[in-house]
Amino acid sequence: MDLLHGNFFVFFQAIMFAALATTSLSSASLLSPNYYGHSCPQALSTIRRVVENAVQKEPRMGASLLRLHFHDCFVNGCDGSILLDPTSTIDSEKNAFSNKNSVRGFEVVDEIKEAVDKACGKPVVSCADILAVAARDSVVALGGPRWKVRLGRRDSTTASRDDANNNLPAPFFSISQLISNFKNHGLNEKDLVVLSGAHTIGFARCFFFKDHIYNDTNINPKFAKKLKYICPRNGGNPNTLAPLDAASAARFDAAYYGDLVHKKGVLHSDQELLNSDSTDGLVKKYSYDGEGFYKDFAKSMVKMGNIKPLTGNHGEIRLNCRKVNQYH
Ligand code: HEM
Ligand SMILES: *[C@@H]1O[C@H](CO)[C@@H](O)[C@H](O)[C@H]1NC(C)=O
Repeated sequence: MDLLHGNFFVFFQAIMFAALATTSLSSASLLSPNYYGHSCPQALSTIRRVVENAVQKEPRMGASLLRLHFHDCFVNGCDGSILLDPTSTIDSEKNAFSNKNSVRGFEVVDEIKEAVDKACGKPVVSCADILAVAARDSVVALGGPRWKVRLGRRDSTTASRDDANNNLPAPFFSISQLISNFKNHGLNEKDLVVLSGAHTIGFARCFFFKDHIYNDTNINPKFAKKLKYICPRNGGNPNTLAPLDAASAARFDAAYYGDLVHKKGVLHSDQELLNSDSTDGLVKKYSYDGEGFYKDFAKSMVKMGNIKPLTGNHGEIRLNCRKVNQYH
């Protein structure tokens, strides 16, 4: 009897320890696809409707919304911090090197938030979840894969331009810098290659690809010449855009990987994926395996969406995605 009791106690302790260890490792396990099933059954269809309209009006908006979720998740987790405007106490992430004059789509996020709060009759859907769902709906709207978005993230009450500068990868990164940046976010080489495939849609500014086209040698010369024409070394407009995937900037396909194989990556960081034994094989595989790319992209998006969410009584549900709530 005593022995049995003692054994049970040890067993119970072991279970509790395991449970604690897993939850402290990942509050992501608290997210679930049906999180708003009771509190707001119309949430997902409402977000999709606004995203579809926005993408129909301007296909690039799908790319911009996908990128917002990425830039949110890589800075202290997927907590909507990128959406906060500057104030006396908020050093907005919008002013970080990789974001300034670059990230866009905030008006569409405002529009989604307004529509979803109205549909729900109360503000229950977080801005961080809106970014995660809008990213998925954008990919689907542009012909890419679908995945179940896990939900229940709450919104941050802080933002940090320094953390954005220190945590977002830059286009001048080498392959080893890219790999270690992704590792710092719990993502491996495969996640790096497959998530970079997001560059199958959207555009980049001359400012970000100038060094690659003038200084790198791992670029197709004819391709470089075309880009140099719209992005002169001196005196050009830094905001001139080039499609990240020249053939189909508004179609979520696997053409980006074919571009890389032909040395037609627009960014230095894109072309770097062919520069390591741990990544070049996957680039080549995805260049002829679109189905494989779709499947793996969906998986890695879920993984990225799980980065350090605020759950429980951490954070808040913002009333306005650009501002922290007044009262706590
Ligand atoms: C691997 C490291 C990455 C680097 C260094 C990087 C860098 C960049 C840069 C410099 C631009 C052009 C921005 C501009 O010219 O204003 C861009 C655009 C874009 N990035 Fe990335 N990126 C990376 C990974 C990702 C990931 C993981 C995603 C999403 C899953 C993503 C999604 C996008 C999209 C969709 C665009 C086009 C946005 C638009 O047209 O508005 N990127 N990226
Ligand atoms: C290319 O490299 C040179 C020498 O390091 C540097 O001065 C220049 O700013 C770089 N970029 C371009 C677009 O020439």
